[in-house]
Amino acid sequence: MTENNEIINQIDLSFPSKSCNEAFSRAAISAFIVQVDPTIDELTDIKTAVSEAVTNCIAHGYESKIGVIYINAKILFNNKIIIKIRDKGKGIEDVKQAMEPLFTTGGSERSGLGFAVMQSFMDKVKVSSTVERGTIVTLEKAIIRASNRVSENGVRS
Ligand SMILES: Nc1ncnc2c1ncn2[C@@H]1O[C@H](COP(=O)(O)OP(=O)(O)OP(=O)(O)O)[C@@H](O)[C@H]1O
Ligand SMILES: [Mg+2]
Repeated sequence: MTENNEIINQIDLSFPSKSCNEAFSRAAISAFIVQVDPTIDELTDIKTAVSEAVTNCIAHGYESKIGVIYINAKILFNNKIIIKIRDKGKGIEDVKQAMEPLFTTGGSERSGLGFAVMQSFMDKVKVSSTVERGTIVTLEKAIIRASNRVSENGVRS
């Protein structure tokens, strides 16, 4: 029997922490996720959350250095998407504090809203981090199957 949480497809990406790769990561995730037939809104939410996490690896994890960013994205049988974004950078001392809206160590250039954006656009956001070892952000979102989507006038699409 097929389990609901069985992995039906997955990709692994790794690329240097250059800001030109932010756009690449958005496009790559989008191209992968499109096979579960998300709405434009669902796709935009996922792309935005992923690019916030990738920007954090570049801006905070590796700061002025160039390191490697790793992304693993999975599609489960129940149409749940799980995306892990990992860096081997400086890590976060206090994850709870870092996730508070408006908290930033990035000075006036940053607004401290990246994690809040990820939380509002995804169903679940998990952060695990070790100082001097790096950070893993896990994003989860369930995509509503096209056959179960009900349009505004109550008709299934
Ligand atoms: N990958 C990471 N490595 C090290 N520190 C991180 C990482 N991601 C986030 N942080 C820390 O958590 C803080 C909050 O991150 P968040 O994305 O919410 O805000 P920000 O990046 O500072 O500002 P914004 O995303 O609005 O530009 C950061 O300022 C930084 O101190
Ligand atoms: Mg940020």
